[in-house]
Amino acid sequence: MPATSIDQIVNLAKRRGYVYPASEIYGGLNSCWDYGPLGAELKRNVKDEWWRFMVHTRRNVVGLDSAILQHPGVWRASGHVDGFSDPLVDCKKCKARFRADDLESATCPVRNNVALNDECKSHFTEPREFNLMFQTHLGPVQDEGSLAYLRPETAQGIFTNYLNVQTTGRLKPPFGIAQIGKSFRNEITPGNFIFRTREFEQMEMEFFCPPDEWEQWYAFWKEQRMQWYLDLGLSPERLRWRDHEGTELAHYAKATADIEYELPIGWKELEGVACRSDFDLNAHTKGSGKTLEYFDGQTRERYVPWVIEPAAGVDRAMLCFLVEAYDEEEVDGDKRTVLRLHPRLAPIKVAVFPLVKKDGMPEKAAEIEGQLLARGISTFYDQSGAIGRRYRRQDEVGTPWCITIDGETLSDGTVTLRERDSMEQTRVPAAELGALISERLAG
Ligand code: GAP
Repeated sequence: MPATSIDQIVNLAKRRGYVYPASEIYGGLNSCWDYGPLGAELKRNVKDEWWRFMVHTRRNVVGLDSAILQHPGVWRASGHVDGFSDPLVDCKKCKARFRADDLESATCPVRNNVALNDECKSHFTEPREFNLMFQTHLGPVQDEGSLAYLRPETAQGIFTNYLNVQTTGRLKPPFGIAQIGKSFRNEITPGNFIFRTREFEQMEMEFFCPPDEWEQWYAFWKEQRMQWYLDLGLSPERLRWRDHEGTELAHYAKATADIEYELPIGWKELEGVACRSDFDLNAHTKGSGKTLEYFDGQTRERYVPWVIEPAAGVDRAMLCFLVEAYDEEEVDGDKRTVLRLHPRLAPIKVAVFPLVKKDGMPEKAAEIEGQLLARGISTFYDQSGAIGRRYRRQDEVGTPWCITIDGETLSDGTVTLRERDSMEQTRVPAAELGALISERLAG
């Protein structure tokens, strides 16, 4: 059974070094989070899995790593300066702030999160548009001329490099450019742990195709993206598609469908797959004066490609993987908390335990651990406490395999291999462990 409240995840994440409140020793900073040792590994694994799936296993997708700060003209042309805003209302009584388009599900943060009622609403100001881009200044002088924005999506760095990448790689549509990186939005109502924050990481791919092929590629990428979540362990009954209504579509989108996941706070957007048509390339052609199109030197064919964009959030995906993986069950009269993370996502792959701290077992364990580390298999070494408690501690952080080095290991070279999910224990020759674990991770 997955987590039934976000608090279960927040508590475990803090206790075991997945996620800490940012600036905690100064009292924290609203909705900002730091990833601890295990969180950093999980995050890296999510990004690696995405990159492998989207870039390394395809011949027609390449990567990019563009700057967070771009020329302000980029954000004017893209429509973000004029249009990237949410309607904001203030409560004159409580001084709380709300998104005017989200009042139905909103609660009052000042009055113990009670649901808003008609009386509340009578104290609200008229909605006003609030631009979500963070502003900064380049250089020492803070004036209009030095104004810059932190990117609110990674996508624009891809569009502005479209011609660079296409010509240097001699790429012919259909092809994609993928990017992972931080984005920033001054959200009016951040919250729900790492679900909505002002600084977050995105995994986006812009797929450039001939205009008359957009529907086929839109369907293709929708299918691919859903499969990625299923392959990494999210269950089909907690995933669904939601098409955007015409009025809800972003200013650049011809069609959008969200992958939603059922979190303890309800069905929420996990990723969007959009058809951005030729909106962005045309906008930057107009804004920059540089023609962004595809020209085939042989056929003399010339056109502006259309774009299909799967856009995912790293932090949001992490939250969904953690919620799905969380399980509590009764074992021998005790509560066992276990994170059933997909082994490729798990921060620690193998925990190494000498049964006791003597008789050469720690030395043997260190030698076996060294062989795993040499293959790049992440390990955790623990030699203290009862073996059952050591297993439980690893269950709680999602370690798929534990190995125990005991008396038999010293005589016949085998170890106990214990599986996180089934708790099954088998004897395996220590010399075969590295290959066995590598094979399971690959499979
Ligand atoms: N380039 C298209 C784009 O940015 P989006 O739907 O605004 O589309 C894509 O964002 C994904 O980025 C979302 O589905 C979500 O996973 C993640 N995301 C967006 N805003 C976020 C926030 N404030 N906090 C965490 N993740 C966010």
